[in-house]
Amino acid sequence: MKRRPEFVPTVVLVLAALALLPSSCSRRQPDPAPAATQTADDVRARETTVRNVTENPVAYKIYPSGKPEARETRDIAPGAIDRFRTATPLEIEFNTGQRDAIYSLDPGSPYSFRYDEGTTIELFLGSHGRADAVDLAPWVPTPQPIVDRMLELASLSGKDVLYDIGCGDGRIVITAARRYGVRGVGIDIDKAMIDESERDAESAGVERQVKFICMDATKADISEATVVSLYLLPESNALMRPLLEAQLRPKSRVVCHNYTIPGWEEKQVLTETVKDENGEDHYVYLYIR
Ligand SMILES: C[S@@+](CC[C@H](N)C(=O)[O-])C[C@H]1O[C@@H](n2cnc3c(N)ncnc32)[C@H](O)[C@@H]1O
Repeated sequence: MKRRPEFVPTVVLVLAALALLPSSCSRRQPDPAPAATQTADDVRARETTVRNVTENPVAYKIYPSGKPEARETRDIAPGAIDRFRTATPLEIEFNTGQRDAIYSLDPGSPYSFRYDEGTTIELFLGSHGRADAVDLAPWVPTPQPIVDRMLELASLSGKDVLYDIGCGDGRIVITAARRYGVRGVGIDIDKAMIDESERDAESAGVERQVKFICMDATKADISEATVVSLYLLPESNALMRPLLEAQLRPKSRVVCHNYTIPGWEEKQVLTETVKDENGEDHYVYLYIR
């Protein structure tokens, strides 16, 4: 799940420059001229966000790619979000605690400083830059063989109600409804993911058994759930723990992909290594509330 920003190849910049050239093939009316003070870059600019999900301030330098002379130094407080409107990639430099790191940030994408191993800090792709909601994890799907095994281990039966917290494209909820006849609810903050989940549920013919809700899952009512699935980062599982404890009835099952729930060691009844289609190992943890 952990994804580092990749260096953006120069070809992207070239394509961006080409996109500005007028097209002789199109008969479309030209767009209204931008206001005199706006440049083409101002018009195309999108918001890139950098969030600090660690417990300490993080110092970093940021500048438009290829313009190190415009380097700006920032110190971001824990929990804060810095915002940059940009039409072109930005370079970001910081120290992870072990080494100096430099990454390229895409215009319009959210990023988060998070702890990597122990106290080292890394910059990861995030899922959103909303200040009113926690960024629990970026969109990374659980491979289908892992979904299948998670649901087997949760021993689903027809009376269960499964909630997937941060449901992405809804695959866990949809598979549970299709294979086990259960009711399912998927919650995700990303509207595009919710729309995709609804379309996929309809294609799978389970739209009456499932519901997808677009909201911040940390504020959700999950009290009817008898089974909860989680594929979030470790600190996000920790953040969700009080909600699980407050709302789930005793004997509810919680099944996690790859990351444990810190503080629930005594509730953990099973750990299994499951291979995906490419032979890569994933970890599944089962808890009984
Ligand atoms: C790693 S994906 C897991 C997707 C799916 N559960 C699966 O296993 O295939 C995490 C999802 O959490 C969503 N997410 C992140 N922060 C969230 C929040 N505060 N509330 C609800 N969903 C959130 C992201 O949009 C993303 O789709």
